[in-house]
Amino acid sequence: MQDIRVIPCKAFKEKPVDETRLGFGKKFTDYRFCMDYYDGAWQDPRIEPNEPFVLDPATSVLHYGQSIFEGMKCYRREDGGLQLFRAKDNFARMNRSADRLSIPQFDEELVLEGLIKLLNIEKDWVPHAEGTSLYIRPTIIATDPFLGVGAGKNYKFYIILAPSGAYYASGLAPVGIYVEDHYVRAVRGGFGFAKTAGNYAASIKAGEIAKQRGYAQVLWLDGVEQKYVEEVGSMNMCFIIDGVIVTPELNGSILAGITRDSILKLCKEMGYKVEERRISIDEVFEAARAGKLEEAFGTGTAAVVSPVNALCRDQEEIKIGDGNIGPITQKLYDTLTGIQFGKLEDTHNWVMRL
Ligand code: COI
Repeated sequence: MQDIRVIPCKAFKEKPVDETRLGFGKKFTDYRFCMDYYDGAWQDPRIEPNEPFVLDPATSVLHYGQSIFEGMKCYRREDGGLQLFRAKDNFARMNRSADRLSIPQFDEELVLEGLIKLLNIEKDWVPHAEGTSLYIRPTIIATDPFLGVGAGKNYKFYIILAPSGAYYASGLAPVGIYVEDHYVRAVRGGFGFAKTAGNYAASIKAGEIAKQRGYAQVLWLDGVEQKYVEEVGSMNMCFIIDGVIVTPELNGSILAGITRDSILKLCKEMGYKVEERRISIDEVFEAARAGKLEEAFGTGTAAVVSPVNALCRDQEEIKIGDGNIGPITQKLYDTLTGIQFGKLEDTHNWVMRL
């Protein structure tokens, strides 16, 4: 394995004083992990000061979006120790995204070692306040200063760290979601399953419209018939209909969420019936009208388990539950975060202690 050198910082940032007001992804630590791809190989893995990059205005990622990223977290346990959750799964998914974007594969063990080394240097940045963690953002960008469209020959891999609180400003309070049936996020054969900038860029306009209408996020429908539920950009969706936990199947156009997978495993262990299948938006609305849509929630690294208390499509708004977080959603949130923060036993080998 390649050696990971450390380039020392000359100046250090002030750490956040009030950890209850961190927000999400606003402040970054002193160091990052970084390596570069050139001459056909990933080279010079290093920990270096997290300073701005100098990029040529022609840099290909700025024009054609050849970039991928991941999201994971480092949690502080009650005993002060630190732990990661399913980090190996994130790096494996990142290599799947890399393949779809024609970005060269990287050594997953090397970057995990780089991340651990980075976290050991930055351990004091992992916040202590309830519900906070150190958000980890591994990213790869194409760095060729070239305006032709094609796979680059030069890339940068970096991992930055952001002490963060809840993704939604409302915290664990339920959010309302707008069903988007004009714009689409991903199409058959596209790259909806990849964590790549374009998927998020495609969502911004619809997200702004949803916000103007008073909704926190957009629920995407499939890009072919605009009939089946896909995902909410920042999270996968689950509905509890008549006691059954129903979630869209992995069809190549939604992200294979690691939180989604963890929640589905926990649901099955808790004895709930789980269905991964196509679910039409009509079915969701009909279940709500019939009083059978008991709960709805999203899952994601940043979003964790986020209760949804309203869905709006065209002019029709359905309310879900009594407006508060539902009992199963709360139980799943408590169990997942219990494992992530080391309060509950990890029987799945998901946690890596640092
Ligand atoms: C994550 O959950 O880690 C993501 O990357 C979603 C992003 C919208 C914050």
